[in-house]
Amino acid sequence: MTSLKGNLMFGQSGGPTAVINSSAAGVFEEALKHPDVIGKVYGAAHGIVGVMNEDFYDIGQEDANELKLMQGTPSSLLGSVRYKLSDPDKDDSDYKKLLDIFRKYDIRYFLYNGGNDSMDTCDKVSKYLDKVGYDCRVVGVPKTIDNDLVGTDHCPGFGSAAKFVSTMTMEVFLDSRVYYDGMIVVIEIMGRHAGWLTASAALASCKGYGPDLIYLPESDFDPERMMDDVSTTLQKNKNVMIAVSEGVKTKDGLFIPELVGEVKTDAFGHKQLGGTAMVLSEYLAREFGIKTRAIELSLLQRCAAHLASGVDVEEAYQAGAESVKAAMAGASDVMLGFRRKDGPYAIDMVTVALEEVKNFEKKVPREWINEAGNGLKQEYIDYAMPLIQGASKQAVEDGLPRFARLKKVQAGRK
Ligand code: F6P
Repeated sequence: MTSLKGNLMFGQSGGPTAVINSSAAGVFEEALKHPDVIGKVYGAAHGIVGVMNEDFYDIGQEDANELKLMQGTPSSLLGSVRYKLSDPDKDDSDYKKLLDIFRKYDIRYFLYNGGNDSMDTCDKVSKYLDKVGYDCRVVGVPKTIDNDLVGTDHCPGFGSAAKFVSTMTMEVFLDSRVYYDGMIVVIEIMGRHAGWLTASAALASCKGYGPDLIYLPESDFDPERMMDDVSTTLQKNKNVMIAVSEGVKTKDGLFIPELVGEVKTDAFGHKQLGGTAMVLSEYLAREFGIKTRAIELSLLQRCAAHLASGVDVEEAYQAGAESVKAAMAGASDVMLGFRRKDGPYAIDMVTVALEEVKNFEKKVPREWINEAGNGLKQEYIDYAMPLIQGASKQAVEDGLPRFARLKKVQAGRK
């Protein structure tokens, strides 16, 4: 082990997941096991912005039992952020601030948990510290329900969201068929540019209780073609269920809500999505004159820790713990990734250069989608089914979830 003594800073950014706190717990519990190497363990409030604002917590002062309960607590207890660091060659003010903080608090381990944009942040920080000769190990911990990070077989957070989407889809399927006069149900699922999560509705279909039609952002979305698909389905059945990604776009590059109004943009230039199911169900109601319902799963799909996948909770925890081990062993400027082994489901943890990960998006392979572009093939089922196995580790008190309660003892100057 290459010994680098100092303190560890951990932060999270981007949209949360049901298991993002499990990764935090993995980082914290592992780091606290090595006081001879890692003196203090800090958790940044709202990611990189908390680091710059000297707003972070002393994790060593938390109760061990509360850290354990993080594995069943959804969302980011530390707080998250969407903040884009500038190009350091154009404006290095943020980086200078970060360097001052790193020096002041002797941060020698920087672990950052998030998706593509967060890996970009991680890479920029790593390259800057390297350029100025500040010795610090920088490791990205993957996370995203969108499952679109390259360099890893899948991402922590995806399995739990997929289990929620497929389970809810099965339950809604039954509810949507109780009346004799039929209904069209449109379920909208997250995944800004990639359809991995929307595709998980196919896990419900393969059990016989899922959507007739599934539309992913991997194919151009044509509202007219959807009408034809629905019309064909209605000839066989008076009920139709559709799963659609919030990220589907027309061939002119417009998201569906953009067909009816303006859409806001975040710090990374991403459009704020949502509303696709509502727009489509109104089109369908007008076209077919039967009852429609729009269901936007929205935040529910990424915070449903009661329905988390046991595999996901455990892998998210291990991703955190292994990132600490990798950094202590000398790894830097890398993201921790999962490599799937051949045979029965199992993974190895590997490190991948941040350079190969940041800002890239992994899409559902076209050959896993049916020719008509409205359903998934067995290859997807084989890929996703192992990731939703096992039960949530959520603790329960008085019949309700018992979330971790952190003291959040301020360690920065704030
Ligand atoms: O982090 C991914 C994600 O959950 C996407 O699926 C979704 O489009 C986006 O975040 C939503 O972002 P926000 O939480 O900023 O509204």
